[in-house]
Amino acid sequence: MNMGVPQSYPHLDQMQPWNDRLHLLECLSIIEEAPNVKTFTFRSDNQNWFRYEPGQFMTFELPTQPEAVLRTYTLSSSPSRPFTIAVTVKAQEGSIGTRWMLDHLTPGVRLKAFGPLGDFSMRKHPGEKYLFISAGSGITPMMSMTRWMHDCAPQSDISFVTCARRPSDIIFRRELEYLTSCMPNLKLSFLIKEHEMGQLWTGIRGRLEAPKLPLLSPDFKDRTIFCCGPEGFMRDVRTMLEANGFDMAHYHQESFGPAAEPVLPMLDVISTEALESAATITFSMSGMEVPCMPGDTILKAARGAGIRIAAACESGLCGTCKVMKLSGKSEMDHNGGILDEEIDEGFVLACCTKPLGNVEIEA
Ligand code: FES
Repeated sequence: MNMGVPQSYPHLDQMQPWNDRLHLLECLSIIEEAPNVKTFTFRSDNQNWFRYEPGQFMTFELPTQPEAVLRTYTLSSSPSRPFTIAVTVKAQEGSIGTRWMLDHLTPGVRLKAFGPLGDFSMRKHPGEKYLFISAGSGITPMMSMTRWMHDCAPQSDISFVTCARRPSDIIFRRELEYLTSCMPNLKLSFLIKEHEMGQLWTGIRGRLEAPKLPLLSPDFKDRTIFCCGPEGFMRDVRTMLEANGFDMAHYHQESFGPAAEPVLPMLDVISTEALESAATITFSMSGMEVPCMPGDTILKAARGAGIRIAAACESGLCGTCKVMKLSGKSEMDHNGGILDEEIDEGFVLACCTKPLGNVEIEA
């Protein structure tokens, strides 16, 4: 397969924006960043350009066996370079989807993807100056935002703090060090837990704790903070900031893990009384009428009946579970995974929509 320079490549103003309803992503290149961490760069299979905010995410359908899984990853690329997008992913122990990417995704492979979406961006929450705090692969949205600022606003004031187990686990270390030579107000702090044979380390060692914060970022209270990493890490950061009197209105966080295993309702132990108070969901394409217990979502009811609706985040963020509601009333408690125009058109997110009476869903 020839993955070199295409014979003819249009200019940006001759291209249409990428549209996840029509096109696939084609893997263009792969870079090894750290142990079990790779960056995958994609282009559109239809020569589209990508419009998004730095820090947003996409959901990928990965053809694992025995069935495909959906995984949501923040983009590490910057929309200031709109011909391609990239995700940088880390396979944790027991990972299925990300492990498949690391082991099987090669240049030329095409994947279905949804998005970009998300609210975690300094373009959506602008500040005078920023403090980026991350751990592990939580660095990816910070990198996207920093790359954007390097290209579009190189004077931006960023205090960039990232934590890793060992020096070799620090993702984007060399690029970040290079960026400090082009961005006069970018201040880098790497924290590691363990030393490592063969790696000189003169930086900070240990966890990110309250006494270290004013040393790393003396004016942290004046900054807009973005934090991304494992849930426990973000909880500790929140607690530390609250204890230090930080105004949490200027704090934003994000993390993604694989969606929890679907829990199927035990229909045989549902009482007659409960069934009587259940709403009915008619799934028009499957031709099924399914009871939905009070408080249950459309997604939960569909799964209980064996009807497949794709879902990744299961928290109203990624937009993967979008379905058309044909009739009936419902309430939706989403986290930005659906646009107002889509709601006006009649779409709902199955993972966070509860019927208010009988509804009909196109699924
Ligand atoms: S599964 Fe992500 S919004 Fe529903």
